[in-house]
Amino acid sequence: MTVAELVDLRSDTVTRPTAGMREAMAAAEVGDDVYGEDPTVNALEAEVAALFGHEAALFAPSGTMANQIALQLLVPPGEELLCDADAHVVTYEIGAAAAYGGISSRTWPTVGADIDPEVVARMIRPDGFFAVPTRAIAVEQTHNRGGGGVIPLDTLRELRGVADDAGVALHCDGARIWHAHVADGVSLSEYGGLFDTLSVCLSKGLGAPVGSLVVGSAEKIARARTIRKRMGGGMRQAGILAAAGRYALAHHVDRLAEDHARAARLAEAVAPFGVLATTVRTNLVPLDLTKHALDARALAAAARQEGVLISVLGPRTARLVTHLGLDDEGLDRALRALPRILAAA
Ligand SMILES: Cc1ncc(COP(=O)(O)O)c(C=O)c1O
Repeated sequence: MTVAELVDLRSDTVTRPTAGMREAMAAAEVGDDVYGEDPTVNALEAEVAALFGHEAALFAPSGTMANQIALQLLVPPGEELLCDADAHVVTYEIGAAAAYGGISSRTWPTVGADIDPEVVARMIRPDGFFAVPTRAIAVEQTHNRGGGGVIPLDTLRELRGVADDAGVALHCDGARIWHAHVADGVSLSEYGGLFDTLSVCLSKGLGAPVGSLVVGSAEKIARARTIRKRMGGGMRQAGILAAAGRYALAHHVDRLAEDHARAARLAEAVAPFGVLATTVRTNLVPLDLTKHALDARALAAAARQEGVLISVLGPRTARLVTHLGLDDEGLDRALRALPRILAAA
């Protein structure tokens, strides 16, 4: 079986552009975006800024680059970022904050979406010459390693208060903020109003092939443009990619509810085997195999034999992800295979 024939539940990044999206890409008006002359990129940036109620946005090639541009905007070299110990920015971005921004990161113990703003408040270190001053707090909405958990709006409001009291910035790694919006019904502009900067991604749940945006004030996004160029992220006729993003925003946000419903069905199917790590709210289904006879690799190998791909995140941690490329037929195959494998071990 080729990967295309398998039911791929490894990640929501595995989607391929739909026929409608490819048509939009082929028809895109383009120009040189480093000169600011790509009309489709400019339209996408304006549209995303407006969605989040901010002045400006900047198209970047990846979620990692969008996060790292934002962190460099908020935290000068040698100063400090606070985030969850399992945050994407300190787990999967290959030390970029330190390597590119000279940023010192300090983490609160892994809690996923269940952040206690008081714990964060107590970690903040003031300005001065003696200790590393805290400049920004980053949260992740939804939380990837936290099983797609959604940080409640009230928690975010409290965190905004904590940040304001201490005079530090608040960043949101919103790679899957669309999922939080659909799951909790909080508007994107409400989320946007709580953060100094956001990074939002078009190539995960939304199904575009490439692209994230940094969102913030006009002044910050002007500086972000320089940082992006320095990092090698200045793209030329990027309107072809921006067109995919615009198509995704128009057609693929509301349908995330289908991904959430399919994830809930997967969660229900594996729950009797005691492997569900946490309550499933969005499109990620984290599996904790510490008490199961199968470890994560063995489960993934057995699932592959049955035509289903899953992610191995650790020796006893695995993950299933629903997305635009998964239909009911694929879901049924997974719903038949996974309980059979878990029951047989
Ligand atoms: C929460 C989160 N932030 C950022 C990223 C980085 O995105 P990219 O892979 O486009 O660099 C990811 C990727 O999976 C993610 O899950």
